[in-house]
This record gives sequence, structure tokens and C-alpha cells, in this order.
Amino acid sequence: MEESSSPLRDLLNISARTLKLGKRLDDPKIFLNLLEESRRLGLSEEFCRRLLGLLIEEKERAEGAAAKKEDGLRLRRFAARAMEMRKAGRKVVRLELGEPDFSASEKVIEAACEAIREGRTKYSSAAGLKELKEEIASNLSSRYGVDLKTENIAITAGGTLATYAAIEVLSKPGDSVMVIEPAWPLYAHQIKRLGRRVVKVRTKIEDGWDPVEAIKEKISRLVKIIILNYPNNPTGKVLDRKSFKGLLDLAEDYDAWIVSDEVYIDFSYNGRAPSILEYDYPKTYYLNSFSKTWGMTGFRIGFVVTDPDIAGKVSGVLSTVMTCVPEFIQRAALAALRDEESRKRNIELIGKRLKVLYEELSKSKLIQLIPPEGAMYVFPKIKAEGFSSWSFAEKLLEKEGVAVAPGACFGEYYDDHLRISAVVDEAELRDAAGKIVKAVEEEIWRKD
Ligand SMILES: Cc1ncc(COP(=O)(O)O)c(C=O)c1O
Repeated sequence: MEESSSPLRDLLNISARTLKLGKRLDDPKIFLNLLEESRRLGLSEEFCRRLLGLLIEEKERAEGAAAKKEDGLRLRRFAARAMEMRKAGRKVVRLELGEPDFSASEKVIEAACEAIREGRTKYSSAAGLKELKEEIASNLSSRYGVDLKTENIAITAGGTLATYAAIEVLSKPGDSVMVIEPAWPLYAHQIKRLGRRVVKVRTKIEDGWDPVEAIKEKISRLVKIIILNYPNNPTGKVLDRKSFKGLLDLAEDYDAWIVSDEVYIDFSYNGRAPSILEYDYPKTYYLNSFSKTWGMTGFRIGFVVTDPDIAGKVSGVLSTVMTCVPEFIQRAALAALRDEESRKRNIELIGKRLKVLYEELSKSKLIQLIPPEGAMYVFPKIKAEGFSSWSFAEKLLEKEGVAVAPGACFGEYYDDHLRISAVVDEAELRDAAGKIVKAVEEEIWRKD
């Protein structure tokens, strides 16, 4: 048998050659060469794209890049330590979590209880409750001047399932997904778990956290999805309309999907933050959640707005992994949407606290931060030689009883940053911020 005539063998040869090409696998020329050879073998561009994605992934794995320490797990252990200290009777101010301190309103709780009493406790449709989808569609349509139908909406188990479903539905194994760092760590975990490749884009406080130039450098035809998250966790950045448009133009040139994670969109403090829904971008996947605005983290409910075909597929993912979001939870979410008073109160509360954080932290010359624009966090840079976010956070917790999230959890370039959440009352926050300033000035990360 003539082995040289086997397409599989040819393909393996191409792959092996490609893998040997050193660090230049992201070079567009490599992609074009591979594309040409794959076409010769009668393979599709889609296949070729995924193959190259897998080759890059394999190369990174072999080089040990994928074996990086899991800062996410370390953060969970750190949070557990803060909890333990509290249980042991010590006063601990917890500013490391991405969870508001306020809870669901009475109206929301009552709606859930009433639905349970009415016996709405059986399996329901994965497609979600029609009334809830109608309310979401009409709310967003009037807010953004668009015409959304219930077919555009999918109900999910929080924003977390909405991003997971986005990656599963909008890309294939081997494809690349772009994440703008610093970022919520779960994006990268989900992308890797689904066998896709993370393309990281680094943004900097010195550039006001604007991502457009950095995206330009990293984007390629391998990128199927760009994940946006504005207002941003952890930086608090809100993208202005010019950058938003610039970014969408880039995405369009490369035919990429935009997954716009807008779970903090209500927490916008410089006028209304732009939403992807205001732009007529054809590959739009918007997601939101009830967790933050209404303090409903434990309810596990969120939603997606997209093209009807994609919305159907998202419900398919939900159906496969957890059948449905419980109906009584959906009824509670409906009550939340109608509880404008709680929404406003929660937004105001976070806004005031962000101001307190900014005022207090700005007192140190060693702390650089942008005035808070949105979300529930500030993400200052500590301008001191040898600063290590983990060692600072661990010492701050033990010595001062204040827990903050180390910047290293949000990307490899952010070990000189801290994420501080505005999730305790103003007086306590002012006091904790004062302790952070003092600890920075005293360089506690250097001490035993
Ligand atoms: C940026 C971002 N997206 C999504 C989520 C998911 O939230 P949930 O699953 O509670 O809706 C979070 C939670 O912290 C987040 O920070």
C-alpha cells in the first residue's frame, strides 16, 4: 500500500511541520500556508482553522504554558480562610468577593414563595417562561430602542451558564476565543474546558484600560468569539462609544461573534454605559444576570439576547445540563424586573461606595487608579518595587483582618494590582480602605 498517498498521513505531516515552526504559529502566513495545503487535500477552511487552533494549544501545552498555577483555586482557599477567621471570632472585612452584600428584595422572595405554594415546582420548559421573556424583551426594547421578541431570549442558570453556552454554541473545539485581560477568571476556565483556545489581550491602567489597540495586534481569522465585559470586572472600566464602535468594526472585519457580558450594566456611573444592543452588529450575543443588580446570586438565573436560532441552541445546552431553570426562580426574576425601587437603591448604594474607595485609596501616591466608572470594583495598581499581590493580600488578611482579591487572579500581568469590592457599608469600607493604604505605605508584603 502506498502510504504517501494517504490524506491522513499528509495531514499529520503538515501538522508536525507546523508544530516545528517555533513560536510563529499565530503568524497569519502560517494560517494561509496551512489553508492552501488543506485545500489541496479537499479539507474545508473551517477544519483547517480548528486544526491550527489545536496545534497551537498542543504546542503551548508541551511548552508548559498550560501548567500555570491556578490562582482561582488559591482565591477560593483564601476566601475560605477569611471565613474561618470570622468563625473563630475575628472581625474580618471581606472585600475579595464578587458578591453584593444586599439580598433579594421582599417582593422577589414573596414571588418565589408564592410560586412554590402554587405548586410551580415541577420540571418546566428549558426555553423559559414566556412572561419572563416578554418582560425582558419589552424592557430592553424600550431601553435601547430595538425590537426584541421572545424568540431572541434564552433563560439561563446565571451569567455563568450564559457564557459557557456561548462558547459551546458559537465555536468548535480548536477555535480561538479572545479574552480581554484583566478578566473574570471563569472565561478562560470555560474556554479550556470546552477544548477551545484562549487568546489573551492585555490592557493597561496607563491606557485607561482601553482594549482596541491591543485587540488589533492579537486578532486573526482563528478568533471566533471576542468576549467583552463592560462595565468590567475587575477594572470598573466602561467602554466609551468610540471604542465600542472601533471594536465592533474590527470584529466585523474578522467575522467574529461578540459575546457581551453585561452583568454590571446597571452599575454605570458616568451616564448610561453603551450596550452591544444599541449597535446593529449581526453576530451579537448579549448576556445579563439577576445576580448583581438585584442581589440574587443564589437564585442562579440570567438570560441571553441573540439571534433566535442561537437562542434555541442555548436553551438546548441548558436542557442537556440541567433540564430547566426552576419555574419559581423564574417567577422571582419576573418580580425583580418589576421592582424598580430595589434596582435603583442597589445601584445608588454601590455608586456611593465606589466613591468612598476612590477617595480613600487616592490618598496614597503609591496607589494608581482610575475614577470608578462602573461595576462593583476598583482595581488599583500598586506602584512599589517588588509588590506581590498574593503576599500583600495574605498579610493584609492576617494582620488587619481585611480580605482583598490579588490582581494575579485576573491575568498574569496584574500581580501589581488588587481588586477591591464595594460590598460593605460606607463606614466599614472607609476604615478598610484606610488599612489598605497604611499597609501599602508600610510595604507589608516585605515583612514576615
Ligand atoms: C464578569 C462576570 N460575568 C458573569 C458572572 C456570573 O455571574 P452569575 O453566574 O452569578 O450570573 C460574574 C460573577 O461574578 C462576573 O463577574
